[in-house]
Amino acid sequence: MRIFVTGASGWIGSAVVPELLGAGHQVTGLARSDASAAKLEAAGAGVLRGSLEDLDTLRAGAGGADGVIHLAFGQDFTQMEAAVQADARAIETLGAALEGSGKALVVASGTPVAPGGVATERDDLPSFGPLAGRAANARAALSLAARGVRSSAVRMPRSVHGDGDHRGLIAQLIRIARDRGVSGYVGDGSSRWPAVHVLDAAPLVRLAVEQATAGSVLHAVGDEGVPIRDIAAVIGRHLDLSAASVPAEDFGFLGMLLAIDQPASSALTSELLGWQPVHPGLIEDLGKGHYFA
Ligand SMILES: NC(=O)c1ccc[n+]([C@@H]2O[C@H](COP(=O)([O-])OP(=O)(O)OC[C@H]3O[C@@H](n4cnc5c(N)ncnc54)[C@H](OP(=O)(O)O)[C@@H]3O)[C@@H](O)[C@H]2O)c1
Repeated sequence: MRIFVTGASGWIGSAVVPELLGAGHQVTGLARSDASAAKLEAAGAGVLRGSLEDLDTLRAGAGGADGVIHLAFGQDFTQMEAAVQADARAIETLGAALEGSGKALVVASGTPVAPGGVATERDDLPSFGPLAGRAANARAALSLAARGVRSSAVRMPRSVHGDGDHRGLIAQLIRIARDRGVSGYVGDGSSRWPAVHVLDAAPLVRLAVEQATAGSVLHAVGDEGVPIRDIAAVIGRHLDLSAASVPAEDFGFLGMLLAIDQPASSALTSELLGWQPVHPGLIEDLGKGHYFA
């Protein structure tokens, strides 16, 4: 397949591109800077220069492709509303370019919270609160199934970890622990985060673009739920700091995410696509030490 990928130079995209190339696909990535373009070329992908805001470029990228994977999302938390709006326009533009073709549009989103239980692919994303805008975009992508697009959403868990992760939430927890001199958790630390190794997430994105039926919701979940206290304990061991409960406010925006118990399952995804994570879970991966080098 000829596959157009937005966010191909990002953390997950950098694992998805070799996964696609290795399976024999032709990949063109959207790149908004020389550095991102160089990264894609080095990986063996084609480059389409432009940003998510260049809707003509997105139309051209999708128009020349057999499938589209949309991973790009602005990560500046002070500009979240603008990022959500750009995401909405990009999904609508990519979807319109694929309308009636039966071609794939895979979008990334996050796993939901199922209070008191384990979230599955059948649980909806929140329709209110800070993540509602992003959730509405994922729903809009899935609704393109009614317009002849083979759309699917790959929901990523809180932590997509692996060697080379310098900006994800785990890297941020490590930075905060170093700054504060304590490896913190919120409350008693029993809240759980789902997680996946980035090298397991990438094959699921590939399977989605190759095979997922229109309207599929998929969970890229390896670890169903890792207690934050356990994450803090490994970080503390590596940094020679004690692990302790600290006020949620000390973590900034991360405080809210750390306080919520949000385990998620990928059983339905495995059933649908035969996907099985094989790379180390979060605690084992943290134990390898690359996060602390
Ligand atoms: N990583 C996680 O733990 C996680 C968890 C849940 C959901 N997700 C979702 O998964 C997707 C991929 O995440 P990631 O961790 O790979 O993100 P990332 O490392 O921050 O990469 C973001 C990518 O989007 C591109 N991008 C951002 N704004 C853009 C714009 N305006 N125009 C063009 N390109 C733009 C970046 O390009 P540059 O390289 O040029 O900056 C980069 O390629 C995102 O939708 C994210 O929200 C990730």
